[in-house]
Amino acid sequence: MSFPNHRPRRLRTTPAMRRLTAEYRLAPADLILPAFIREGISEPAPITSMPGVVQHTTETLKRAAAEAVELGVGGIMLFGIPAVRDARGTASLDPDGVLNKAIRDVRAEVGDDLVIMGDLCLDEFTDHGHCGVLDADGYVDNDATLEIYGQMAVAQADAGAHVLGPSGMMDGQIAVIRQALEESGHKNTAILAYAAKYASAFYGPFREAVDSQLTGDRRTYQMDAANRREAILEVELDIEEGADMVMVKPAMSYLDILADVAAMSPVPVSAYQISGEYAMIEAAAANGWIDRRGAIMESVLGIKRAGANTVLTYWAAELAGWLRES
Ligand code: PBG
Repeated sequence: MSFPNHRPRRLRTTPAMRRLTAEYRLAPADLILPAFIREGISEPAPITSMPGVVQHTTETLKRAAAEAVELGVGGIMLFGIPAVRDARGTASLDPDGVLNKAIRDVRAEVGDDLVIMGDLCLDEFTDHGHCGVLDADGYVDNDATLEIYGQMAVAQADAGAHVLGPSGMMDGQIAVIRQALEESGHKNTAILAYAAKYASAFYGPFREAVDSQLTGDRRTYQMDAANRREAILEVELDIEEGADMVMVKPAMSYLDILADVAAMSPVPVSAYQISGEYAMIEAAAANGWIDRRGAIMESVLGIKRAGANTVLTYWAAELAGWLRES
């Protein structure tokens, strides 16, 4: 060739050309908004390490859900912070407990216009902060925890959740939850399995968000950052057990895992852009070190490109607003 080959740059010449030739795009419907509700507060409480995110009251949560519908957001994932905790996380089973009540309130507010998801885990409800109950040695007891998860599943489905999000990483949790749903007549309640969930330092701000009581870590049940193949095992087991969708979490430090899972999964794949990922970008932007909007868009697009069908992100509503105006 006697001329430089300008094929790469030809398709980058104008915004319209770049828009036409974009391989991936974000849409509001791909986004899931994680939201916190705290029992016993009358005003929303800011979360210091997650600027812009709050612990909601019932009223502000209902408003956030209605706003998500307006913006075309795909779903909402609810986390409850109870006023009273105990060793077995009893408040998670109370039909009027903070999370079950929130599911019911949000369902009454938005009906079927938004996919309503409940976090199905004990860590917000236990006084020790672990995702399950403990045995006499303080080890998280897998099978005793499963019994409670089955009951939580029924409580959340009774409250009106469309989707349950088991995030505790107990072995066999999907099978137990599916069975409990079938036996209680909730055959259409879906499961979004936190299938490949890693023990991560990036969960830090979430611990503030839910006033976590945890001392220590979750390394006996969450995955080790050193492992890649193991994610496929976790995903295969969850799909066999009945997962309707599977999740990789965190997102940005695990994009290889996400790509692996996207390549093999016969069910839709989610990724959770977690609290620490949110906090890092917000902190850098607040210092003027990066362009906030550009960094947010790029980070979520990167997660989509790696293979996520849906993305849980604390920016879901704001991002949906930007996508609608562009
Ligand atoms: C457990 C749970 C956690 C998150 C979602 N579900 C915390 C953990 O596993 O330690 C973290 C989400 C985030 O950091 O944004 N119920």
